[in-house]
Order: sequence, then structure tokens, then C-alpha cells
Amino acid sequence: MDSSELKSIIQGIPKAELHLHIEGSFEPELMFEIAHRNNIALDYDSVESLKKAYQFNNLQEFLDIYYTGAQVLLHEKDFFDLTWAYLTKVHRQNVVHVEVFFDPQTHTDRGVAFEVVINGIHRALEKAKEELNISYQLIMSYLRHLSEEAAFETLESSLPFKDWIDGVGLDSSEMGNPPSKFAKVFQASASHGYKLVAHAGEEGPAAYIWEALDLLKVVRIDHGNRCLDDAALVQRIVEQNIPLTLCPLSNVALKVIQKMEEHPVAKMLDKGILATIHSDDPAYFGGYMNENYYETAKALNLTKDQLMQLSINAFEASWLSPEVKEKHIAQVKDYFRASSK
Ligand code: HPA
Ligand code: ZN
Repeated sequence: MDSSELKSIIQGIPKAELHLHIEGSFEPELMFEIAHRNNIALDYDSVESLKKAYQFNNLQEFLDIYYTGAQVLLHEKDFFDLTWAYLTKVHRQNVVHVEVFFDPQTHTDRGVAFEVVINGIHRALEKAKEELNISYQLIMSYLRHLSEEAAFETLESSLPFKDWIDGVGLDSSEMGNPPSKFAKVFQASASHGYKLVAHAGEEGPAAYIWEALDLLKVVRIDHGNRCLDDAALVQRIVEQNIPLTLCPLSNVALKVIQKMEEHPVAKMLDKGILATIHSDDPAYFGGYMNENYYETAKALNLTKDQLMQLSINAFEASWLSPEVKEKHIAQVKDYFRASSK
């Protein structure tokens, strides 16, 4: 397959995005525009100089810049514009279902009310459902570098909006902040009807994946790369069909792997893991869904069957109803059948 054929195949696949931090979709151009209208000075004098700062050696170096960027978001319209920009972008990439993370504490700790954040995000998601036919789920992430008590306060603030929130996640600085730190708040979150996911095994060890499964009782692992260090864990993940939401461009940008050719997704598919591909923080890591599929497929020489499997896996791993999953999976199969003629 040459690169233009590969790009065109990827463009046409109906896709589901299950690992996307809305604050990580904040493109520099929009950041400057919102900073300007909110009278906030950025540390950079142009979009180009900001983009030059996007060089990371690890997760923490990225998070420091990511949290700084989010500081210009103050009003409901800012959160709406951020979310709407992401949704219109991925609509053009034929993404038909999204499960979006947001980090309430990044905003509430700066004095922005929970309701301001969620009203803006929710309004954009609803508009995309109506106008772009994109279905969605919304996932509230607890910041793991903060205390479990702070996560409990966030849970409390979310309850008036619980009809708009489908699940909770766990993100931010992984090393030294194991899932076990949040066992009680995850249990409480489940008691309010939230579904559970957690980032684990991105930089942290396989032991953190075990904890996310056994102590937090998550239904999906975000990243999970490090499961390959532990054969018994791989066996568990395969037997229980636990999805791993992988983010290849993120892994390269944060030096979780040294180059794309080392990405474990093909190995994971071979082992029978329900692996999926997503974009994590596309404005920072060099690409959205299509670019993640493309760079991975190119580096690993993925076959059409592997691309189809990855696309099916994402719907399988989603929180859509069984009937709607089946409908999307049938469309993916039809698409590949037609494209191989
Ligand atoms: N890992 C952990 N926390 C995050 C990430 C990530 O890749 N992106 C945004 N918050
Ligand atoms: Zn992530």
C-alpha cells in the first residue's frame, strides 16, 4: 500500500475515539484567541514559539505545559469553543463516536466553577450529536497528583450533573501515584452509577495495571503499554477482554517508546488483546485519529485486516449499547469489503 492509498483508506474508516483529553485538543491558534479575549498574557509571543516548546522528555514535562495552556479557559464559551473545535475537526476525519475526558480540577482549582466547565463542554457535545451525528460519552478524570480527598470533592461537585457524565477516569502524573491511592473514591463513584476507567502502565509499572483492575475495578485501561512486562497480566487482560486504549503518537512524544517502529500495538493484537488506537492530546502530540492510525500503520506495516480489527475493537470497547455497536461494526466490515474490491 502506498502512502496516499493508506491515507485514503484510513480517512474512510468510521472511527471511535475513546481516549481524548479535551484540554489536550487545545490548538495554539485557539489558545491565543481565547487568551486575547480574556486579557490573559501567555508566556509565548507567537503560535510558532509556543509550538517550539512542545518538546517533551517524559509525561511530567508535557503535563506542565498542558496545565499552563488550560489556564486561559475561564468562561462557558471558552469550554464550548474548545470542544466544538475538536468535534468539527474529528468529524472531518470520519470519527462517529467519541468518549471524551475532561479534568475538572484543572479548572476548579483556579476558581472556575464546575458548572461553567461542564455546561460549555456539554453544549458542544449536544450540538455535535444534532448537527454532525457524532454520539458521545463524557468521562470526568481525577488528577492523581492531587489527594483522594480532593477527588471526593470533585465527585461531590459532579453530582448535580451526573446525568451528563458517564464515567470517571484517572490521569496526570502516574509515577508515585498508584491506583490504590484512589480505591475509595472509585468505589464511591461506582455507587453513583459512573463507569470506571484509569490510566495505568503508561510510565508506571505493570503492578499499577493490576491495581487498576483489582482495586479500582475499571472496565478499560488507558494506555496499558507496560502490561507486556507481565505474562500473567496479559493472560488476565485477554481472558477478561479488557480493552487497552493506546495512543501511539503520544507514546512517541512522551518517550514511552523511542520510535514508532517499537510500538507494541501489533504484538498486542497478535496476543489477542482488545487494543485500540486513539489520540490522547492531539494538539500537543502531532495528530488526531487519522494521523495516529497512519503513523502506526506506516511504521508497523499494518495490514488492512489489522486496521479493520483496530477499528472494530474501538467500537467493541466503547460504551455504546450492544445494538449500536453491532451497527457500527457492520459498517466497518462493509467499508473494508468494498475497499478491497
Ligand atoms: N497521561 C496522563 N495524564 C494525562 C495524559 C496522559 O497521557 N494526557 C492528559 N493527561
Ligand atoms: Zn490520556
